[in-house]
Amino acid sequence: MGRLAFAGQRCAVMLADGNTCPPQALRGLLHIALRSMTLSYVTDLGPGVGALPPRARLASDAPRIDLDGTWRFRLVPTLDDVTEGFESPAFDVSGWDEIPVPSTWQMIDIAGAAPYGKPAYLNVRYPFPVDVPVLPEANPTGEYVRTFTLPAGFGEAGVLRFEGVESCFAVWLNGVRLGDAKGSRLPHEFDIHDAIVDGENTLAVRVHQYSSGSYLEDQDYWRVSGIFRSVSLIATPVGGIRDVFVHASYASGTGTLTIDVDPPTARLSVPELGITDADPAAPWAGPVEPWSNEEPRLYDASVSTPSETVRLRIGFRTVKIVDSEICLNGRPVLFSGVNRHEWHPETGRTLSWETIRDELCLMKRHNINAIRTSHYAPDPRMLDLADELGFLVLDECDLETHGFQVGGWEGLPTDDPRWEPALLDRVARMVERDKNHPCIIGWSLGNESHTGAGLAAMAAWVKGRDTSRFMHYEGDRALAYTDVWSQMYTPLPEVERIGRGEEEPTADPALDQHRRHAPFLLCEYVHAMGNGPGEVADYQRLFETYPRLQGGFVWEWLDHGIRQVRDGVDYYAYGGDFGEPDHDRNFIIDGLVFPDRTPSPGLVEYAAVVAPVRITVADRITVTNLHRVVDLSHLTFSWSTTDGVQGTLDVPPVLAGESVMVELPDLPAVAGERWLTVSAQLAADAAWAVAGHEVASGQGQLQSAAPYAPGSSLPVEVDGTGHRLGDARFDRRGRLVEVAGVTVGSPVLDVYRAPIDNELYRYGTPAGQGAEWHRHGLHRPIQTVVSVETGADNLTVVTHEGPTGWNHVYELTWVWTATEAGLHLDLTGTPHGTWPSPIPRLGITLSLPTSVTAMTWFGSGPGEAYVDSHAAVRIDTWSASMAELQTPYVRPQENGRRADVRWAELTGGLRVSFDEPAAVTLRPWTSQALDAATHTVDLVPDDRVWLTLDVAQHALGTAACGPLPQEKYVLSARPFRMGLTFSRLAPR
Ligand code: GAL
Repeated sequence: MGRLAFAGQRCAVMLADGNTCPPQALRGLLHIALRSMTLSYVTDLGPGVGALPPRARLASDAPRIDLDGTWRFRLVPTLDDVTEGFESPAFDVSGWDEIPVPSTWQMIDIAGAAPYGKPAYLNVRYPFPVDVPVLPEANPTGEYVRTFTLPAGFGEAGVLRFEGVESCFAVWLNGVRLGDAKGSRLPHEFDIHDAIVDGENTLAVRVHQYSSGSYLEDQDYWRVSGIFRSVSLIATPVGGIRDVFVHASYASGTGTLTIDVDPPTARLSVPELGITDADPAAPWAGPVEPWSNEEPRLYDASVSTPSETVRLRIGFRTVKIVDSEICLNGRPVLFSGVNRHEWHPETGRTLSWETIRDELCLMKRHNINAIRTSHYAPDPRMLDLADELGFLVLDECDLETHGFQVGGWEGLPTDDPRWEPALLDRVARMVERDKNHPCIIGWSLGNESHTGAGLAAMAAWVKGRDTSRFMHYEGDRALAYTDVWSQMYTPLPEVERIGRGEEEPTADPALDQHRRHAPFLLCEYVHAMGNGPGEVADYQRLFETYPRLQGGFVWEWLDHGIRQVRDGVDYYAYGGDFGEPDHDRNFIIDGLVFPDRTPSPGLVEYAAVVAPVRITVADRITVTNLHRVVDLSHLTFSWSTTDGVQGTLDVPPVLAGESVMVELPDLPAVAGERWLTVSAQLAADAAWAVAGHEVASGQGQLQSAAPYAPGSSLPVEVDGTGHRLGDARFDRRGRLVEVAGVTVGSPVLDVYRAPIDNELYRYGTPAGQGAEWHRHGLHRPIQTVVSVETGADNLTVVTHEGPTGWNHVYELTWVWTATEAGLHLDLTGTPHGTWPSPIPRLGITLSLPTSVTAMTWFGSGPGEAYVDSHAAVRIDTWSASMAELQTPYVRPQENGRRADVRWAELTGGLRVSFDEPAAVTLRPWTSQALDAATHTVDLVPDDRVWLTLDVAQHALGTAACGPLPQEKYVLSARPFRMGLTFSRLAPR
């Protein structure tokens, strides 16, 4: 519109037509110009101005004021609307809203009025055009104000510390601007010296939803904003401690310790090691117990100056790559890890200490030994807990620019020198904050940001600062600046090839040599979306076979659902539920635990697969200690049989990596099938579980069941209404109407299941198998009775079952006989025509009255099991209510299959026993209803109960983001047979 010209005291605006601007318009223009100068930090590509150089988070005895709590708050829609002068102590905020800090404003009352907008879920795409440095005009900005009183004795100096503010903020104390910052999941400190006053102080913070930093924070998550981690004011006494860097290593029984302290005049004490008032920089060496994830030994220490003492927890450990293996204290590690995002269904990105602690304990109880902090530095308290509880942590920088992929990575920040200061600032803030944690064994530069000079510069900076950990970044495919070879979702054959060292060479021979000798890990694998993942055990087999394969991190730990309430019923929202114009649906619901952190069957499976003790039961019991450090003296062993005998087992304290064989217990003779289960439990309470917690179990069959022997059959009776076999009634078309006193909806072929997420997505894009099954009508076969034959003692019904419009049909022959034991069905199925492959299921479904409310069965349990996910189940007698038989996947889908069932008793009077073990699914709604539901709250019980009996189901796999299931788990249409007996349930 014009040009602003300053000349001495006179200022005029020359308009495009050559005229000058009238004075009142000039004032407006000046105002806009000044505001955009003041707000230019939002779009500036740099990391911000005014924050102090990063340092470790210190547990100091210096006075500290906790500034969490209730702040005054105002949300404005754009930068044009920011409140002039809000930072001034004189500004009246008494009419403003109140907001808790820490929190994100989009999660405030999210199950209710949601006064500050709602979260939006996006995976790869940015929530704005990729158009650096332009940001959307709609850039909600939160203005926060609070006062606090400086207590007597606080001193004159101090820093304001923000542990996490998303995505960018400016801060004022008593109207004095202290600075601005970006790097949402990273700490920032500001010097208060020139602004603090005695008595009451006013703190004002302006937070922008979008900033240049948002271009570096394109992680796959809910997009939220605000001061979401704690704020505090920390005194920095004169002569106090600015920073501490602990170097504590371990080899062959000896620990070595030096600590860089600023100032170097500080003194060190480690009472347990007899170190008192020592020079921290003077190398100390002596006998210590090492830190490891299995035995997280920490030594309490302190460094002091006359004015300040900082407490430390030192873990002596050495991380080194030796012969293509990452070793901890000289022993190769195997990562049984998870990718951990920070999310809570009610508080979003803000977690309480209790939530974090419970979550880490839950991981320990499920044999998880490693965490990748995907894809940002975590709440710092998580690392304190990881040190203490024992986890191997891959600490990842707050960096992802995945959305640049849509443009072929053009304009990529990680390869553009203009962004380098921001990148270096980010990695320095992570490393400096977290450098004293023994749990961190590797630094990760970020996620899905392609590759470029900026990343190489970050790596170089880290290597210059800390050589005690390895460098990781999955995007460095050639290993030009990292130390370990990392991939995601690699198919099993490729993983095996890498395990064998048979990978294709890379372009540069020197780098190829480096990569060829590098350890390999899967920073993401077995995508845990919905029902699954399958094939975890197949990956584990490879990890245990090839030393170079050092395990991986499941994607991911948690379903990021958001709690909502409909008609008084809780459910979890996902992408699109808040009216986001662009979103990625339920791809955010892909964890091993449900949003409320209850374990899903996927977690239970993972725990069994990666259990650190392997127990097999055959002629003898073999116990293998898969730990890397500890022997088994912390465990007790017990055994039980499926016929109810139990005892304890003496197992010597097997050393790490070794096995022992133990004789089977002496057992009284019993007729029929018998299984022996051996269980390893904690002998004493641990920090993360109580004594008796089961760490591992193994099972073997000692005796098998006698084969099915038909008794003498009863005659078939025919009358005008149909057929009668014993107490079973059939209609004239040979359809079962009643058995054992229970009215039934006659069984029909069931080749369908409500598609699981792995059948609806391929690498995050809606696609796939589920749609094919629908197209082929597998959810709607029609049963046609083609013949009914009455023999002297059997009823033989032939049906053809297939969908309209297709030629794929199953011919089923139902041979019914009645004996004193009940009604026996011998069912054979033969496919005709062209069936799609895979098909979901091979079985039958019948309906029962709603008096069926629970089931007791002898077979696999207690949880569901599928062909590629059954490590966690054991054969036994189990009971579950109808509700317990359903797994509440956030997006409803196939679930609840109890496998290997020999017999099942349903309340209401019906017993089903199988000639050969089969699978049973009992639910209060149909597969079609499951299919149609988008949220758990959509599922409403029918006026019938549905019993599905199957001989096979297709794999679960992990294809939503990963390879298709292996051929061996693919179910195709094939001839099948199922034999079963319906009988009257004996009163218990
Ligand atoms: C990966 C990515 C993760 C997540 C996952 C799919 O490519 O690194 O952040 O998006 O895919 O759930």
